[in-house]
Amino acid sequence: MKNEIEITADGSATIYVPHLDEHYHSVKGALTESLHIFRDCAYMHATSTDAPLRVLEIGFGTGLNAVVTAMAANEKRKAHYISLELYPVSPEMVTQLNYGKLVDNDLLQSLHNAEWESPQVITPYFTLEKLQCDFTQCELPQRIDVVYFDAFAPEKQPEMWSEELFARIYEAMNPSGVLSTYCAKGEIRRRLQKVGFAVERLQGPPGGKREILRATKNSF
Ligand SMILES: C[S@@+](CC[C@H](N)C(=O)[O-])C[C@H]1O[C@@H](n2cnc3c(N)ncnc32)[C@H](O)[C@@H]1O
Repeated sequence: MKNEIEITADGSATIYVPHLDEHYHSVKGALTESLHIFRDCAYMHATSTDAPLRVLEIGFGTGLNAVVTAMAANEKRKAHYISLELYPVSPEMVTQLNYGKLVDNDLLQSLHNAEWESPQVITPYFTLEKLQCDFTQCELPQRIDVVYFDAFAPEKQPEMWSEELFARIYEAMNPSGVLSTYCAKGEIRRRLQKVGFAVERLQGPPGGKREILRATKNSF
């Protein structure tokens, strides 16, 4: 069964994966989710200095989180955006997504066209580093300020949500670094706390009732 494009409640597209019975984004609104959970609750929340914020995304997917972050980056809040992806979305699938009408299409295209495996300067404020690797196996980039934890749900891909992997992420982060995820399950919150994060439950994106999690690394 092939992956399919679906339109979510805010009019933005997502990809449905039949063999997992799972979507790349919330069906209540892909773009709304991306803006709220990742851009606003993590990237815009992180303390910025003159140095670019080092963002680590788990799952580049459609590039939606990357493009909304690139659009938010500016002189005072630059980003070095590192994204891990084991199964890059095919160019044919990318052309079927309707994000070009909703975000800066030139920017989106340049993110998709950027070479993999090394940092690529996209704008003066945003550098993209796409790494094709298995998150459960690879060596993690270090000195990370912001983590977008956007794996498929724990019921669908439990191996991505283990305490051991959260501990590795914690170690890879700078003090006061923040991680956000759409998943607010108690078990996931407890795992994040167990490895050392202070975890908050925040209001989820507009249009949905669910909460989300933001985890902060202690600053000492
Ligand atoms: C929920 S989607 C992410 C959506 C993405 N952030 C976006 O803005 O479109 C989960 C992503 O994780 C990727 N993935 C699945 N297993 C992986 C693994 N072991 N390592 C790295 N990426 C993986 C999938 O291919 C998919 O792109």
